[in-house]
Amino acid sequence: MAERGEVVLRAEQVVAGYVKGLPIVHGASLEVAHGEVVTIIGPNGAGKSTLMKAIAGLVGIESGRVVLRGQDVTGRSADQVVSAGLGYVPQTGNVFTTLTIHENLRVGGHLLRGEMAARLERAYQSFPVLAQKRADRARTLSGGQRQMLAIARALMTDPSVVMLDEPTAGLAPKVVQEVFERLRVLAGQGVAVLLVEQNAKGALRHSDRGIVLVEGRNHLEGPAAALLADPAVGAAFLGGAGVRRAAA
Ligand SMILES: Nc1ncnc2c1ncn2[C@@H]1O[C@H](COP(=O)(O)OP(=O)(O)OP(=O)(O)O)[C@@H](O)[C@H]1O
Ligand SMILES: [Mg+2]
Repeated sequence: MAERGEVVLRAEQVVAGYVKGLPIVHGASLEVAHGEVVTIIGPNGAGKSTLMKAIAGLVGIESGRVVLRGQDVTGRSADQVVSAGLGYVPQTGNVFTTLTIHENLRVGGHLLRGEMAARLERAYQSFPVLAQKRADRARTLSGGQRQMLAIARALMTDPSVVMLDEPTAGLAPKVVQEVFERLRVLAGQGVAVLLVEQNAKGALRHSDRGIVLVEGRNHLEGPAAALLADPAVGAAFLGGAGVRRAAA
């Protein structure tokens, strides 16, 4: 386990995209330390999801580096990056709706050797609602419960870092709070948490630091409280009169 404060995920000047020579992410950098929650915000199409996919080994990296617990994982396959300690909850399609809760968790642990039973038990202890419904298909879960399943699934491999792409999208306000609080607890347990959020204010209130990504580049970054208090950030990125509204 990493020491508190130790950087567990570092992306350095990442250039990445879907077509070689036409990058979407133009040299983005970030760091997430053990015990931290870091949130990436920014307008639609800024490349937030693409940056996460590049870190997760799902999108090609043209230049730059991704370092996970001191190990260079740039260009590794998604399975290799998971094995190196990354958990990833994508923006959409993050649970298999036709599989049961139990099957979803087993899929999350498919890279495990031997520890499956103990990890399933731990998941059910952390998320009692999933234990009650373990034999039900995931499509029967509420939106909030699905997100909890997606998180529990990503935790099956005991990752050092969990990345979540808009985990609160479409959830009721009370459930949004529950998800953020759950992520804070995870960070307290020593997992580094990297979020992408449209719900920028809510996410920053539960984060240590924030990064504003615009056109695939770091536009602004700093302590979450400082970003929340910055009038320029508020107007443009936190539901003020600027970019976010204009894009909606
Ligand atoms: N699979 C894909 N193939 C080609 N281009 C893509 C693909 N996915 C996304 N893009 C393009 O990449 C750009 C950035 O998309 P991305 O999904 O990373 O943005 P985002 O910041 O996550 O936006 P949002 O806030 O809407 O989720 C967009 O122009 C989008 O059209
Ligand atoms: Mg996105």
